[in-house]
Amino acid sequence: MAGPEAGGSLAVPNVQQLASSSKDVPIRYIRPELELDQVSNDENSQIPVIDMSKLGGGLDDDDDSESAKLHSACKNWGFFQVINHGVAEELIRKMKVDVQEFFNQPLQEKMVCAQLPNDIEGYGQAFVVSEEQKLDWGDMLFILTRPVDGRRMKFWPRIPSSFRETMDQYSTELEKLASSLLSSMAKNLGLDLEKLLTLFKQGMQGMRINYYPPCELATKVIGLAPHSDGTGLTLLTQVNEVQGLQIRRDGKWIPIHPIPGAFIVNVGDIIEIMSNGEYKSIEHRAVVNPAKERLSIAAFHSPNFNAMIEPLPDLLVKDHEKHAPNYKSVSHQDYLQLGARSKIDRESRIHQMKIQPPSGAVKIEGPPSMVEKS
Ligand code: OGA
Ligand code: NI
Repeated sequence: MAGPEAGGSLAVPNVQQLASSSKDVPIRYIRPELELDQVSNDENSQIPVIDMSKLGGGLDDDDDSESAKLHSACKNWGFFQVINHGVAEELIRKMKVDVQEFFNQPLQEKMVCAQLPNDIEGYGQAFVVSEEQKLDWGDMLFILTRPVDGRRMKFWPRIPSSFRETMDQYSTELEKLASSLLSSMAKNLGLDLEKLLTLFKQGMQGMRINYYPPCELATKVIGLAPHSDGTGLTLLTQVNEVQGLQIRRDGKWIPIHPIPGAFIVNVGDIIEIMSNGEYKSIEHRAVVNPAKERLSIAAFHSPNFNAMIEPLPDLLVKDHEKHAPNYKSVSHQDYLQLGARSKIDRESRIHQMKIQPPSGAVKIEGPPSMVEKS
């Protein structure tokens, strides 16, 4: 894949370096519009928590009420946390230590893994496509971890020396967890489990390790601008105790409080499309702490390259009734290219996939004064 067109990024300053060398925040990071955002302070409004020990991976021993809770989480929230997920605590701990050690190195050591022009993998920043674009207050290391034979080891840190081995194990375990969740989702959607798993077999997995330096003007910058994940299913872990993930709900931003040891899971655009919109890919963002650095590891899971990205045909004939597809049907390759043309607006990949209702039949929400005249 090449060019910002394919998701590669223009070179921009290293934010960790910037934050450590001066207290001034360059204008390209300042976002006056953030002031208008409403952040919810309702402590009771938190994403559902799913106990994986009660789910049997879509098999008959799934506990009915836990299954129902998962189904509702995917439909009504698009985000949830999983506990008792079976990924060894020690492995997660090692992954966090290795990630922290990578970012603690001097810049020139990290630059060994630097993004190359027109490439999405490596150490740098994502989604910078123009010189005028506002920038996120964060750096990241992105590597494609699956399929295994597609790994490009030059982007995998050698320091700390345990990094590659730990990441390999972490990748394997998260893939298992993602498959188990997908199986339970398939059952909930009334889908043939094997069919869905086949789409994700030899699937793509990418790891995005985010580093958000502290910023004195924390409320005026954003660590990761609002977006929905273009992939299938994301499993996120927060590396230290500093919180910052927020999700959009009812026009407000809800801060997520991670449960120690849990993974935060979210439905990505591809699952929304495959479920024909029954499951929701929700917009989210990461805010910055004024005094402390924050790190997170997002593991993205997508179908294999041969899979079509489309509402699953079996869902369109559910209960002996035909349902109209709400999204287009494209090859995985073409789907990835859609991001290309969307340029700055990362959201528009899924917008391009949406089949618009014919004009004249547009559902009108809100008072008529809010409806745009055309
Ligand atoms: C992402 C993401 C959130 C976070 O990497 O796509 O949404 O808390 N990260 O870092
Ligand atoms: Ni995300």
